[in-house]
Amino acid sequence: MKSTMSVTSRRLASFYQTAVGKKAVMAVTGLILFLWLVLHVLGNLQIFLGRDQINRYSAFLHATPEALWPVRIILIVAIVLHINSAVLLYLQKVKNRPIGYTKKGNRGATVMSRTMMWSGFALLVFIILHLLHMTTGTIHKDFIAGDVFHNLTFAFHQPTVVALYVLAMALLAMHLYHGLYSFTQSLGVSNPRHTSRIKPLAAAFAIVMASLFALVPIAVLAGFVH
Ligand code: HEM
Repeated sequence: MKSTMSVTSRRLASFYQTAVGKKAVMAVTGLILFLWLVLHVLGNLQIFLGRDQINRYSAFLHATPEALWPVRIILIVAIVLHINSAVLLYLQKVKNRPIGYTKKGNRGATVMSRTMMWSGFALLVFIILHLLHMTTGTIHKDFIAGDVFHNLTFAFHQPTVVALYVLAMALLAMHLYHGLYSFTQSLGVSNPRHTSRIKPLAAAFAIVMASLFALVPIAVLAGFVH
């Protein structure tokens, strides 16, 4: 039993050493993070159903540690693996790049991975600040534990905070667009006819998702949430 496990883990480790292995890990962890974001935005939109609804939803999540903690652990592992694979793939790409290359296609791919690197880094900074803001309340000016409605409406009455969140959601849209597109490439979709259809679809998904997130701060600032 023990030796079967060690053979499996050795195989997995050597698969991870390859570029295909790291791309597969990026695709799977990216999908997990994307699905979690869908749940998160659905949770946030409950603010439009009133204070009681969103606070009840949050209370339910916090009162169910047997669901909350496994999800948090999966998220942390997914984020760590996603970043680790991204950095390793990027370094590999830079190392293998021919010196003085001028091919247009090559340049496009490198610009895209560079954009993914910095938008990903900026999103990581956002996530850390966002946790200190909305989860621990460390950088929130009037945080009340358990009162998500108050925490959101208080924060988003400040135009600077709204501007920062909207800016972060624009970065999220960019990252999701490239990420969703790369995901289909990792699945092996390389036919140019399909690719031309996938790009607008990935853009639409990314824009809808980021706009739904941005809707909450904008609606609060505009006075639509009481
Ligand atoms: C305008 C956009 C967003 C709003 C209004 C928002 C709001 C919130 C709120 C109120 C919480 C605390 C929930 C609670 O304690 O019950 C939270 C937690 C969290 N948010 Fe967001 N969020 C936004 C965007 C994002 C984005 C884009 C990400 C990731 C890229 C993200 C990642 C997280 C994480 C990781 C947590 C902690 C979840 C946990 O406690 O298990 N959020 N968010």
